[in-house]
Amino acid sequence: MAYNAALAEVEEDQLTNTMSRILVTGALGQIGSELTLALRARYGAQNVVAADIRSEGKEDLVNVGPFERLDVTDMDRIKSVIDQYHVDSIFHMAAILSAVGEEKPQLTWKVNMEGLLNILEIARERHLLRVFSPSSIAVFGPETPPDPAPQAPPLHPTTMYGVTKVSGELLGEYYIHRFGLDVRGVRYPGIISSATRPGGGTTDYAVEIFYAALKNKHYECFVREDTVLPMMYMPDCIKATIELMEADHDSLVHHCDFNLAGMSFSAGELAAEITKHIPDFTCEFKPDKRQEIADSWPRTIDDSAARNEWGWEPSYDLPAMTADMLSSLSERMTRAKL
Ligand code: NAD
Ligand code: SER
Repeated sequence: MAYNAALAEVEEDQLTNTMSRILVTGALGQIGSELTLALRARYGAQNVVAADIRSEGKEDLVNVGPFERLDVTDMDRIKSVIDQYHVDSIFHMAAILSAVGEEKPQLTWKVNMEGLLNILEIARERHLLRVFSPSSIAVFGPETPPDPAPQAPPLHPTTMYGVTKVSGELLGEYYIHRFGLDVRGVRYPGIISSATRPGGGTTDYAVEIFYAALKNKHYECFVREDTVLPMMYMPDCIKATIELMEADHDSLVHHCDFNLAGMSFSAGELAAEITKHIPDFTCEFKPDKRQEIADSWPRTIDDSAARNEWGWEPSYDLPAMTADMLSSLSERMTRAKL
């Protein structure tokens, strides 16, 4: 009897701690698009609602499984989607990134802060199980020790995007301590991927270079050759996101601000690695205003908290990522006649 009661308690605990109805905001973006597919494969297509402010261009997401047009600054609309699908967990990927953020700082504050506050507030009101709120290496600023950036230095970013990411981490921590909401997040490095083009960040050159190499065998890079930034390949990004969201809550000391590392390389080293596969590829370096943003971010990241608290370990380094990127992207470009 006691055994059965204990077992029932464990099962109930497991059930109530397992995400079962998931909403992904910003689901058509660079990360959201691949995350949604991975979550649908893991939790069932019907249990993962993809949502974005737009609906064009991603038929695989919009037509297979639930999709809703949703602006994260519209509180009533988020409430109605959450109620309609009985959502219990949210991966909140909608945001404006760093380069667009410097063009449109007011919009960046509105989408990144109002959007996050809406998500956290609804999660609190509806007693949702868990919220993923991504942060970024953009939380760091020129005064951060760059090699590696520690887990907890003073955070003084110089971009509006960085300001929203620091504020987002603090807001998440506030909801944890004040209301007991389970909010989790990592400081993603620049994400490199072949399925969806990036949405206007400073690290976009590390993706654009592959398209240009395959199409024109030449790329004009908007940062200096010696610019080193932390980067990560998409399979590692998806793995980290899901692993953190499935980690045992009791093992976590940090919550919304995990440093996360994959690899670090200079723009010149990336070009040289591509040349090993495409020997006549050439790259020119013509820094534009995004150089200043890149210079304000660290070169490498100390992610020992993520490694110790939830077992984080990346799988891809520069050579493995480059080989896989070229083969996946060239296949996709041929298929899509790009
Ligand atoms: P992205 O720009 O590719 O996608 C963002 C998505 O949000 C887009 O599909 C866009 O249509 C949508 N969106 C914009 N405004 C919206 C609104 N008001 N309501 C609903 N949807 C809206 O961004 P991403 O690269 O997929 O980034 C996802 C998250 O990860 C963001 O929080 C970003 O800051 C963070 N991040 C990304 C990187 C990276 O290199 N990709 C690095 C660090 C952190
Ligand atoms: N890749 C992102 C950007 O460049 C980092 O958060 O904005």
